[in-house]
Amino acid sequence: MNASVATERLDRALASARDALASAATLADVAAAEREYGGKRSVVAEVREAIKGLDPADRPVVGQALREFADSLASAVADRRDALSAAEAESRYALERLDLTLGGHARPRGHLHLVTQVQRELEDVFVALGYQVAEGPEVEDDWHNFEALNFPPGHPARAMQDTLYVDLGRPEQVLMRTHTSPVQIRSMETRELPIFVVAPGRTYRNETLDARHSPVFHQIEGLAVDRGITFGDLAGTLEAFTSDYFGEAVTARLLPSYFPFTEPSAEFAVSCVFCHGAGCRVCSNTGWIELGGCGMVDPNVLTAAGLDPEEVSGFAFGFGLERMAMIRYGVEPIKTFFDNDVRFLEQY
Ligand code: PHE
Repeated sequence: MNASVATERLDRALASARDALASAATLADVAAAEREYGGKRSVVAEVREAIKGLDPADRPVVGQALREFADSLASAVADRRDALSAAEAESRYALERLDLTLGGHARPRGHLHLVTQVQRELEDVFVALGYQVAEGPEVEDDWHNFEALNFPPGHPARAMQDTLYVDLGRPEQVLMRTHTSPVQIRSMETRELPIFVVAPGRTYRNETLDARHSPVFHQIEGLAVDRGITFGDLAGTLEAFTSDYFGEAVTARLLPSYFPFTEPSAEFAVSCVFCHGAGCRVCSNTGWIELGGCGMVDPNVLTAAGLDPEEVSGFAFGFGLERMAMIRYGVEPIKTFFDNDVRFLEQY
């Protein structure tokens, strides 16, 4: 052997080692190729063995060729091993992959109940007219619910309101308020003039549930008290409210009526929002829909609340919130509001 034979054999061996590594499919194939081209029975082992018998001048050349062969083989082996272990890791990750994605269920968002929406809208209409929102207790005493409102004991007008009494204190002294009118008394007892308040809230009556009546319902009360308040102010306020809330096409009408706490008293109706007066099922062919009661605060009520009827006057009104919602959204029967069926609730 001489130097050129030795380097040529090493070059050929390196070329086939590279081919073998390129086609190695597993880490075991790489190890086998490494053994075959760098091990005891390889070309490189033979050349190393033969170096002692070479011409001394050839030895450094062949020695250099041996080192280059070893480096090239080592780096080709390392490259192939890296490539194969990266691919292996990737396929293992793919196999072991756990899909932890959570299902795309957005939590449904709730919203205010239709009656609450109507309540807030009405509050807004009156707040825009300069009113404040007042509140009173749902469990009331006889004084605020009846007595101070000019319903003396045994007065036949008490029969207008089927009262639910609470078993507390003296009999028939504590009750579930039958209307929001007791807030009139509470407002006059505690506020300075001028008083302009609206009082929305829940009210109770011992009534059988039917299409339009429920033992639990909501009202909104209005009260204006100052020097020189007239019935014209009441009519104008209700007209302004009607067009604000129902639109310009709807008008208000007042018809004589009776309440113990107002004098004169009136029934407040609006032109039918569905047929505009022509007559339909909703307005029972009258062209008008009754919304509630109103009137000038009775002098006895002003006196009971500690005001002087010779000095001040006022008007009050009260209407049912469910009734407003039933009219505006065509909802019937009234029980639909309390069933809490989401298929109904989510429509508004
Ligand atoms: N409180 C009366 C009712 O519930 C309504 C009303 C309020 C009437 C204010 C006149 C003035 O029927």
